[in-house]
Amino acid sequence: MAVLPARRFLVVGHTQSTDPGLSLNDLPGAGGRIDVLARVVTAALCLSHGLRSDTEVWTVIDHEGVHAGPRTIVWSGDRLRHLNPDERTTAALFKKAFGADVIDHLDEVHPGLQVAEWGFQAALDAFGAAAPFVVLDREGVDVRAAPGDWLRPGIGFVLSDHRPFGAEEEAVLREVAIGRLSVGPHWLHGHAAVFLIQDALDRVA
Ligand SMILES: C[S@@+](CC[C@H](N)C(=O)[O-])C[C@H]1O[C@@H](n2cnc3c(N)ncnc32)[C@H](O)[C@@H]1O
Repeated sequence: MAVLPARRFLVVGHTQSTDPGLSLNDLPGAGGRIDVLARVVTAALCLSHGLRSDTEVWTVIDHEGVHAGPRTIVWSGDRLRHLNPDERTTAALFKKAFGADVIDHLDEVHPGLQVAEWGFQAALDAFGAAAPFVVLDREGVDVRAAPGDWLRPGIGFVLSDHRPFGAEEEAVLREVAIGRLSVGPHWLHGHAAVFLIQDALDRVA
């Protein structure tokens, strides 16, 4: 049985393309802000030298305009190859995942990169089945006062991209998450929130 990574993030994308023809020259425009997800991936996984082998990131793209269909891509720091800290090479890995023949369960399409045709609900079900998770939310409990079991190995952290969660997503999250965690008083970009969570985890490790 696979060992659960110590640190797990799931980010929900509300505008990104899943088209394998994605242009690497226009990530914010034609890519539908796929640069935002790329930054979350690198913030979670990249150290100055190498990757965090204890971290896994789930990127979920699911919205009404996603003509090529929803996708869930899991990035595993212990096996991932060819991830660099820049958005363009990260987007090239998205493109590779989009080009794979997708199925209804996660399938590895590149070392450390798995993809499935899952949307929000299927991805959240699978993510939450492995271990409990909290939602990152400015209005949540301050990370500096978080209950000890919210920062323990295996716990998941769920965040949104540059858009707020939709009403239906919020309703589901309120039902299944064990709590809401704030990294500070301002709304930050998602990748900055992830940096702060990684830092908090580094300090309790
Ligand atoms: C750019 S923000 C989205 C901001 C958007 N105005 C909203 O209402 O959700 C991206 C994500 O980062 C996380 N985030 C941003 N600031 C945060 C904070 N201070 N504490 C916890 N999570 C935060 C949240 O999950 C948020 O959905």
